[in-house]
Amino acid sequence: MHIDILTLFPEMFTGCFDQSILHRAQEKGLFSYQLHNIRDYSTDKHKRVDDYPYGGEAGMVMKIEPIAACIEHLFTLRTYDQVIFLTPDGEVLNQSIANELSMCNNLMMLCGHYKGVDERVRELFITREISIGDYVLSGGELPAAVLCDTIVRLIPGVLNDETSALSDSFQYGLLSPPVYTRPYDFKGHTVPQVLLSGNEKLIEEWKLQKAEERTKKNRPDIL
Ligand code: ADE
Repeated sequence: MHIDILTLFPEMFTGCFDQSILHRAQEKGLFSYQLHNIRDYSTDKHKRVDDYPYGGEAGMVMKIEPIAACIEHLFTLRTYDQVIFLTPDGEVLNQSIANELSMCNNLMMLCGHYKGVDERVRELFITREISIGDYVLSGGELPAAVLCDTIVRLIPGVLNDETSALSDSFQYGLLSPPVYTRPYDFKGHTVPQVLLSGNEKLIEEWKLQKAEERTKKNRPDIL
């Protein structure tokens, strides 16, 4: 999978893609990405990328021309499955959207800033609008990094043990059960006996019960 990210702040991605699973996915040749600075596509002599809104609202609006120039250039190089705009007024990201997007070959992600982007960008180019939650961040960069991470870890072959993505929270409509590792006894807090029993059936039943308890407590809305 290849992801092109259009941003005014490419430095915000420094580090995100060079660690852990996203790094491993690139090493394995399963994922590549490219950052595109929208400002590089401004033909304005001051390299302006924003302007005052028509109608006189507070805040600045990202201009269409540099974004359109960048997108149109990328369209000559690839065919995209989706052109995604990260925005707090998009559909809220969940595991099923991540599963769906993990099957794509080429994605483009546009990170917004200021008061938003000129609506015509959304009308002309955007195929999907995604929010990472009901709160407002200062821009779409962190949401784009979140979206990349959640998608790329699902690409077959990226995780060593593919079942570990299948047992993630949300994959079966439940949160994950608790997990433990050594030591068995930490200052009198011991690991549940059932996990040491070697009885697969009992362990599975225990995990399901704990997953249900946790979901009921923390996320009754998804039950
Ligand atoms: N940009 C600002 N806030 C956002 C959010 N919650 N999700 C996606 N993009 C955003």
